[in-house]
Amino acid sequence: MEDTSNFVVISNRLPVSRDEEEGRWETSPGGLVSALVPILREREGVWIGWTGVPDFAPPPFTHDDMRLHPVPLSQQEMEAYYLGFCNNTLWPLYHNAIRTPQYHRRWWHPYRETNERFAEAAGRVLAPSGVAWVHDYQLQLVPRYLREWRPDATIGFFLHIPFPPVELFAYLPWRESVLEGLLGADVLAFQTRQSVSNFRNAALQYSAARPDGDDLKYEGRRVRLQWAPISIDAENFESTARSRAVADRAARLREQFPPVRRILLGVDRLDYTKGIDHRLRAIHTFHSRHPKEAAETVLLQLAVPSREELIQYAEQRDRVERLVGQINGEFGRPGYTPVVYMYRQLEFEELVAAYSVADVMLVTPLCDGMNLVAKEYVASRVSDDGLLVLSEFAGAASELKEAVLINPLNLDQLAEALRRAVQTPPEEAATRMQALRATVQRYDVYRWSRKCIEALEN
Ligand code: ADP
Ligand code: F6P
Repeated sequence: MEDTSNFVVISNRLPVSRDEEEGRWETSPGGLVSALVPILREREGVWIGWTGVPDFAPPPFTHDDMRLHPVPLSQQEMEAYYLGFCNNTLWPLYHNAIRTPQYHRRWWHPYRETNERFAEAAGRVLAPSGVAWVHDYQLQLVPRYLREWRPDATIGFFLHIPFPPVELFAYLPWRESVLEGLLGADVLAFQTRQSVSNFRNAALQYSAARPDGDDLKYEGRRVRLQWAPISIDAENFESTARSRAVADRAARLREQFPPVRRILLGVDRLDYTKGIDHRLRAIHTFHSRHPKEAAETVLLQLAVPSREELIQYAEQRDRVERLVGQINGEFGRPGYTPVVYMYRQLEFEELVAAYSVADVMLVTPLCDGMNLVAKEYVASRVSDDGLLVLSEFAGAASELKEAVLINPLNLDQLAEALRRAVQTPPEEAATRMQALRATVQRYDVYRWSRKCIEALEN
């Protein structure tokens, strides 16, 4: 009999990764983990997930006060469930099909089986009438499997990515099963009001759920629908940005650049949803149309490797690197490189130093559940300066209204926004940034987790 807990978090990845060279676990960076650590500690909670390495699932262990229960995935399951169904079917479909989703029964079956395994692992460890909190598109069937096994449990689900419009969701050959899976939850939470409404429409059209006020009624139960935009540990970014270590790093970083007037910054996982290629094409237009103003800028583009096994990601990397080469070839000269590109994960202080030196932050996804980078930049601008150029297709756009909002597919508009951004008077930038900072400080990730958990516990 395993030790049980009243509070169990279930996500595809555990909040740790294994450093094989050092032979130890490392806590993954990020606001979600920072927000959940105190909650797990307080409730002696358990986190269930995959180690990120196929065929590697050690027995339950404790790290950083978190009780961790690894779920095994074989190499074949990793390929069919994670690379296949999660990231080649659901990911493109849920991001407005900006790449063509692939539908294969040989991926769907492992998705079902692995979801069942995660649910069983949760069911074994969850104490009677405990709370289980399931995360993201990889585990949409877990609420139902868990409820079948543990009808006493209270089950929450949070979708980190957008829920697509019903017209797109309808294409999914297993749409009914996915809806039934999600409707196993007591509370279903989404990043935007649009996603709440998209889910509601899909459930009303393709499942037995019926309206219950703003919520749904399903199999005699009420299923609550919640809008809960995720955020960051704003205070951590702010205090790091104010630290001596980051001030020194930022000064050294600025010295590395030619003496340009403005530093533009992009920070993204290298994913085709992030619009890095559109951003670069707009930079090209900016240099072609306004050579004098553009030559007073440098774009620092930081890209963290992601899902490199998938062809769409390899192609996107090639596209980005070709564009970087093209811009530097056409507009560079000795002593001046218009785009400085780094393809790697940065340490936290390096990242905050980059936010600190950036006069303009470019966040240009074609579709994004939230986009935490936008909030991280704002939290790091402790002098109330800097300008955020933000895609209207990021979930963050509905909260960060004082950003310069753009449609990243409109390259002329984006190039023009760049030209204006570098010439924005400091007073206007300060007014916008103060308002943005107030929002990000107020609605931080701790407030988000409290909101989600209160909905589950009441
Ligand atoms: P997504 O969840 O799709 O990756 P978000 O913008 O919400 O997008 O979150 C990305 C996270 O990855 C942020 O916390 C950001 O700080 C981090 N990140 C992105 N690029 C880098 C990088 N080059 N080095 C370190 N961290 C990065
Ligand atoms: O935003 C969705 C998400 O799955 C995050 O939870 C995760 O940090 C990121 O994408 C990277 O995903 P993966 O686990 O596939 O590397």
